[in-house]
Amino acid sequence: MASNGGARHQKSGKASFEHVYDREDPREYFRTLGVMDYRIPPHHGQRLFSTLVEGQRDGAGNGRRSGEPFTVVDLCCSYGINGALLKYDVTLDDLYERYGSQELDVLSPEELAVADREFYGERRSEDALRVVGLDLAENAVSYGLRAGLLDDGVIENLEEREPTDRLREAVSGMDLLTVTGGIGYISERTFDQLLGCLPGDRVLWVATFALRWVSYDAIAGVLSRYGLATERLESHTFDQRRFRDVAEQEYVCGELESMGIDPEGKESEGSYHAHFHLSRPAGSSEASVEELFEPVLR
Ligand SMILES: C[S@@+](CC[C@H](N)C(=O)[O-])C[C@H]1O[C@@H](n2cnc3c(N)ncnc32)[C@H](O)[C@@H]1O
Repeated sequence: MASNGGARHQKSGKASFEHVYDREDPREYFRTLGVMDYRIPPHHGQRLFSTLVEGQRDGAGNGRRSGEPFTVVDLCCSYGINGALLKYDVTLDDLYERYGSQELDVLSPEELAVADREFYGERRSEDALRVVGLDLAENAVSYGLRAGLLDDGVIENLEEREPTDRLREAVSGMDLLTVTGGIGYISERTFDQLLGCLPGDRVLWVATFALRWVSYDAIAGVLSRYGLATERLESHTFDQRRFRDVAEQEYVCGELESMGIDPEGKESEGSYHAHFHLSRPAGSSEASVEELFEPVLR
């Protein structure tokens, strides 16, 4: 099992769930995070990322060769949950129900992977979408591949190592880079290394959720060196999960206040909140980030 070494950027008062990041299958991940009502990947990510895939796929000048599938690289992909939600006709609630069910509880991880492949195979909604996962959690990525949540997966830690040729090849056709729940584990270093793998003519968009107490400035700075301008969606924040206890909530609210960010009406209500960031080629005459998502956030 790979160690979760990327967590060195995480803040100390945040509850750690690393023990469920690299299991043989995703059941314990869903059970543990379900208790905290973890919402970002399905409920919010699915809506926003799908909007981007639909809008960007047929866009002019996207650098894709004809017949090439639209490729999402999901960074910190874990078991491939974002992949499942983008490629298949399933919701987060479906996944919580599935992985918490007594019926599946008796299956071995291998049997579950076989059952999952069949389950997802019957629910394919996006034939022309390819999802490549990147994470340092070996078992989780391997499960995502075997169960069909990911089309390709690479296990690497770009915080600590240079990208391998295998990674360069896997991400060279990426159109959209997504991150949910990973900023803080990964820093600007990972983005720098990953974008450095792209051929110069590739048009890439980067869409991420980052907790409000994590500064995105250094990452936006790196992305700008690759010609991408970053906008933050100002009209909405997104609840990520409930605090484990009052101590965690008080710690987070205190940290936010010391950063000049008012937790009132957001973290003060009991959940972490995240900002959504979108980075696109600078100077492209696209709609603003607010306009782009107005129909799905109404
Ligand atoms: C909170 S989980 C989020 C998983 C998934 N994106 C989701 O939203 O459900 C954080 C993930 O980041 C991964 N991670 C931590 N450090 C990393 C690193 N340096 N490089 C790649 N992945 C890393 C962990 O293994 C874990 O799968």
